[in-house]
Amino acid sequence: MDKKIPRHVSIIMDGNGRWAQERGKERVYGHANGVESVRACVEAAAEEGVEYLSLFAFSEENWNRPESEVSTLMGLMVKSIANEAEALMKQGVRVMFLGNRSRLSDPVNSAIDGLMEASKDNKTLTLIIFISYSGKWDILEAAKKLAREIAADPSKLDSLDDMDIASFDKYFVTAGIPDPDFMIRTSGEMRISNYMLWQLAYTEILSVPTLWPDFRKPEFRAALAEYAKRDRRYGKVK
Ligand code: FPP
Repeated sequence: MDKKIPRHVSIIMDGNGRWAQERGKERVYGHANGVESVRACVEAAAEEGVEYLSLFAFSEENWNRPESEVSTLMGLMVKSIANEAEALMKQGVRVMFLGNRSRLSDPVNSAIDGLMEASKDNKTLTLIIFISYSGKWDILEAAKKLAREIAADPSKLDSLDDMDIASFDKYFVTAGIPDPDFMIRTSGEMRISNYMLWQLAYTEILSVPTLWPDFRKPEFRAALAEYAKRDRRYGKVK
């Protein structure tokens, strides 16, 4: 039997701080080692034929962490983009950053724009990094976009009742990206934490006890094996 490979895998990368604390180090040490796991999972996803890999790197709520941790994470993001760009291009990875870009600093925004533009025609794997993102923010923005469109052209109100789920999908930051088939959360937590609330409606979810810096290729492959055992019914009877 063919291996059942999810088209879109998403990960809530959790446990960097605990991983560092277990080693008597600062939390940022965990984030730095977490970048290695990002690289490993990108490679494994491409090797396994996953088309989309999305990662929750920084939530809207994460802005409330101590200023020093926020700036370290942002610095790590810019540094990782500079360090990884060449390898990502070689592997044919298209990189997208999605979230509330207006809250990001100019250096972060320009690093993001540079990599998105350079990699936009790559075809092997699409890597989506959610940064300054929250699911409720995404839904609210979608509603605002729709309201603004109607305010600009009130004749659109006549067709509002015909609007279906697929047409509303286009107002989200994930427009054009298939919903995740599989979502993994590391560090054993059982929460969605305001991630893609709209898009995760029928996603298969797996929580693994591994802390993110320890989640490498073997762990990614083991998670895919779990997915292959799932029976997706989408509310129907089989
Ligand atoms: C969760 O661990 C992790 C984060 C909030 C940040 C994830 C960021 C990276 C792995 C590095 C940068 C990313 C890219 C894409 C280059 P936590 O701090 O919540 O850990 P804890 O729950 O143990 O405190």
